[in-house]
Amino acid sequence: MRLEKTNKKMKPIIIIGAQWGDEGKGKITDLLAQQTDAVIRFQGGNNAGHTIVVEDKTFKFHLLPSGVVYRKKCMIASGVVLDPAVLIKEIQEIKVEGFEIDLMIDPLCHIIMPYHCLLDTSSETKLGEQKIGTTGRGIGPCYTDKIGRIGIRFMDLLDKEVFLKKLNTNLTLKNKELELLYNQKPLDVTELAAEYLNYAELLRPYLGDVSRYTFDNIKSKNILFEGAQGTFLDIAYGTYPYVTSSHTISGGVFSNVGFPPTELEVIGIVKAYTTRVGSGPFLAELHDETGEQLRKVGQEFGTTTGRPRRCGWLDLVMLRYAHRLNGFTQFALTKLDVLSGLPTLKVAIDYTYKGKCIDFPIGLEKLDKCEVVYKELEGFELPQTITTYEELPKNAKTYIKFIEEYTNVPVTIVSIGPGRKQTILRESIG
Ligand code: IMP
Repeated sequence: MRLEKTNKKMKPIIIIGAQWGDEGKGKITDLLAQQTDAVIRFQGGNNAGHTIVVEDKTFKFHLLPSGVVYRKKCMIASGVVLDPAVLIKEIQEIKVEGFEIDLMIDPLCHIIMPYHCLLDTSSETKLGEQKIGTTGRGIGPCYTDKIGRIGIRFMDLLDKEVFLKKLNTNLTLKNKELELLYNQKPLDVTELAAEYLNYAELLRPYLGDVSRYTFDNIKSKNILFEGAQGTFLDIAYGTYPYVTSSHTISGGVFSNVGFPPTELEVIGIVKAYTTRVGSGPFLAELHDETGEQLRKVGQEFGTTTGRPRRCGWLDLVMLRYAHRLNGFTQFALTKLDVLSGLPTLKVAIDYTYKGKCIDFPIGLEKLDKCEVVYKELEGFELPQTITTYEELPKNAKTYIKFIEEYTNVPVTIVSIGPGRKQTILRESIG
């Protein structure tokens, strides 16, 4: 596959995980980043993890947009919750590798504080078997404060007086919660203040109005919006409560960046099978050797927490629902190589509830009672040397065609390995 550097103006592109996250969005963002002027992250925080392989070097980011490896303008929009310590570490790491960084952070981003992480992990412990299986990065508690109107934003951190006032108010509440509910030690305001004021100075040079930049440039520049997590982790439309605390679907981009509805190229990233980390329903999950094989061959262990991912067959009922929510204009199918060698492949094509076929149901109670209907397709062996779509084995093409016909969304990118070159591009993007 060859993507040429071009000055052509494309439609703004948004990259969305079509499943439960970990679809390989980072690789596709990185691939498309060479044609773009700016890459913008707009939700989630360092619960995300993108792995990008460039030549022999593997980069793992949690907060920096994936375009950073192409030395693109990278932006963190207001919808992101920001752990400054993590961001500073990532900036340092990428600089050590010789990359100059052109980063803009929106002043409206909410800051993840240590009490958010403590509350996240403590509440998970308290929930026991009912735990969400969060990444423990303080994401939920930080968004809770944002909605509860007591959060601390990047702009607050840059004004010592404002920050100290807000921190004092917050710690009064949070320390009570930590002590009384979770039996944790209270946090010291002086120590915390000093630490975070120091972060503020390190990050001050990157302050910038991402909303304004997007509004001013969306018509003239190529902008790529990089979604984090996946459709089924959306706070409203995912498998609630086993979801993350932000909107992960495409529509969320407008309010999370702060620009008006605009026509977008919506690229859904679909793993050739399904994975999930954390608790919650997963109808096409495999509890057998095939599941083990997918985990092993696909190296399905979380980038953020290292947890083994649950693995299962591709679920087209989920993809159809995801398409309804996101309006995909194309799919990038990733990790097709992981299926290589399996004699038979199964694909979920229907859910039945009380004997009737239904769409992906809202509500876990109904979902739990659904039966899955599978279609069996013949497996394939995928040679590593393939560079064009035509060279794909016949059964791999049948697999792809089946996805396209079921969902009515064209598969324009096929990824057959982690490296940049292991990508087959069928049509031009944007
Ligand atoms: P939180 O986002 O840390 O609150 O975790 C909530 C749920 O989202 C858990 O099931 C996590 O495993 C899942 N999750 C959060 N971020 C990601 C991600 O980047 N990939 C996959 N799952 C994620």
